[in-house]
Amino acid sequence: MKLLVTGGLGFIGSNFVRYMLNKYPDYRIINLDKMTYAGNPANLADIADNPHYSFVRGDIIDVQLVEKLIGEGCDAVVNFAAETHVDRSIADAGGFITTDVYGTFVLLEAARRHKIKRFIQISTDEVYGEAESEPCTENAPLNPKSPYAASKAGADRLAFSYWATYQLPVIITRCSNNYGPYQYPEKMIPLFVTNALEDKPLPVYGDGQNTRDWIYVLEHNAAIDLLLHSSGLDGEVFNIGSGGEYSILQIAGIILKVLGKTDRLICLVKDRPGHVRRHAVNTDKIRRVLNWQSQISFEQELEKTIRWYQNNRSWWEPIKSGSYREYYRTHYGVEL
Ligand code: NAD
Ligand code: TYD
Repeated sequence: MKLLVTGGLGFIGSNFVRYMLNKYPDYRIINLDKMTYAGNPANLADIADNPHYSFVRGDIIDVQLVEKLIGEGCDAVVNFAAETHVDRSIADAGGFITTDVYGTFVLLEAARRHKIKRFIQISTDEVYGEAESEPCTENAPLNPKSPYAASKAGADRLAFSYWATYQLPVIITRCSNNYGPYQYPEKMIPLFVTNALEDKPLPVYGDGQNTRDWIYVLEHNAAIDLLLHSSGLDGEVFNIGSGGEYSILQIAGIILKVLGKTDRLICLVKDRPGHVRRHAVNTDKIRRVLNWQSQISFEQELEKTIRWYQNNRSWWEPIKSGSYREYYRTHYGVEL
């Protein structure tokens, strides 16, 4: 199989590329990535020389480039490329609309023209907005609360429309919050772990009681792999999640305990505008259809993830410098 992966230098995409090359050494993987602040070649340094892997630096909104890459005998597309950070979307939404919505359109158009056999649109559980009393099923209404979530909802429904209108074999995934190695330290878990390692405050928004369903990134990768190889599921949406709901304060507490640091590092700061109180997904469908379910204990895997950041300072220390410090000062109003 020849696979076009977009956004493969980011957190989930890089873990996916490595996972796929390990599992299917005969596949060819083309990684199209713009190398934004979040796209880091170090995430795939270990496989950069693999003859079955090639990297193309470019933008998914580049029609000619996308047309060429998909036209060169590509069998399937997995679209991870996106602007992904809620806080950045609140500060400046434009790039989210361009990449997440328009970029997805460019990919869908080329996929349609070249009759691609499988298109996986990596959407997110954030498209649902608040999970009220029950975790959201795939039929729950979409009420995205941030410009990031709304741009992903636009791409999600655009991908569906290419199935409904043109029978492009699209599958849409809505996964919960991922954690694991190589996550850019603007997201909560790697931010808190790396701050704690440097004895810096952990900025907890609001009262710290907001909850998310946390899934280990390689479990997410495995679910995408199953969907990629499935048949008879065109046009379908699948939630992916672990069912393990933890609040920000609970996670901050685990991180500090594992690292042997004081709770005094926890610092309650101004809340995020439109902060979703609870994201949670019902995963009965993927369990029923593909026999996939999360097998991993959150606390054990979180501890391993914390140790990964502890043992890989050379990965994150260069990131937390330069423009990152500028971002931190602007966003949190303090020096890092
Ligand atoms: P990330 O921010 O770590 O990586 C995004 C990658 O996309 C980067 O490598 C970046 O350079 C690339 N990119 C951005 N704009 C691009 C463009 N215009 N053209 C080409 N490449 C571009 O993100 P992530 O956390 O790995 O998320 C990957 C996907 O998974 C996203 O679509 C996101 O919405 C979705 N998702 C993420 C989570 C999560 O918890 N992180 C949960 C559910 C869904
Ligand atoms: P984040 O990692 O940004 O993911 P998302 O907003 O996509 O769920 O945030 C996860 C949770 O952590 C969310 O409830 C917001 C909270 N959070 C903080 O309390 N402090 C922070 O500095 C960040 C980045 C997030």
